[in-house]
Amino acid sequence: MTSSFKSSQDKNKGLTLRTLLRDATHHHHLQLNRHLLLAGLTQPNYPLSHYQTLLCTYYQLYALLEGRINLFLKGHLVAFNYSERSKLSWLIKDLDFFQIDILALHTLSQTATDFLKIETIGQLVGVLYVVEGSTLGGQMISQVLAKNYSFRHDAGSCFFIGYGEKTMTFWQQFIAFSDTLSGDKHECQAAVEAAGQTFQLFNQVLDDVVHQNYMTVS
Ligand code: HEM
Repeated sequence: MTSSFKSSQDKNKGLTLRTLLRDATHHHHLQLNRHLLLAGLTQPNYPLSHYQTLLCTYYQLYALLEGRINLFLKGHLVAFNYSERSKLSWLIKDLDFFQIDILALHTLSQTATDFLKIETIGQLVGVLYVVEGSTLGGQMISQVLAKNYSFRHDAGSCFFIGYGEKTMTFWQQFIAFSDTLSGDKHECQAAVEAAGQTFQLFNQVLDDVVHQNYMTVS
């Protein structure tokens, strides 16, 4: 166990896994929100080309993440239904709206794909925390996109609208599921580490896109 996790767990004895996850990943979330491709999302002058690059990159990320999530769920008896939560189809719809060919997208680097493993229930919950949590900010983002670009569910904003008015219901159901691990310190540790790694994966892949000048969609 890493000492920072242990000290935070000692301090937070009795708190839920969700609270541990939120506290442990707060700085990752802030870092991500400052990223070039995300920071301007809620600003009126956010370039459309950034938005399209973001969707392309998210397509690669969610294909990887959902592939790993589904693989784990296929091999384990887990009381959590991810099939109704798939986000890849939302991204495909948006990319289709912009007439972006999925097959022509750059693939993720081997470093990125090797980075993430889901081998335990704790790791699953950590990855899901980030994947499901990403729908929360989407509620605010989709409203801004509707105002600035007139994007709608069937027109460019399917991913960020996500679960729409059911967002909090889906989130609370996930939190209830994650709380079933709250008494298991090993799985909690695995969840916190996996959540941190998943945030890092987003940051790393978004950085790669900017630095490798893949922002060519316009
Ligand atoms: C500019 C982009 C983003 C904005 C503006 C944003 C905004 C927000 C907001 C407002 C919340 C709180 C919602 C609430 O409590 O009702 C939230 C929560 C959250 N967001 Fe983001 N977000 C962004 C990007 C992301 C991304 C890319 C991820 C993951 C890859 C992410 C993961 C999370 C998580 C895990 C939570 C839940 C925190 C908790 O436990 O309370 N966010 N976000």
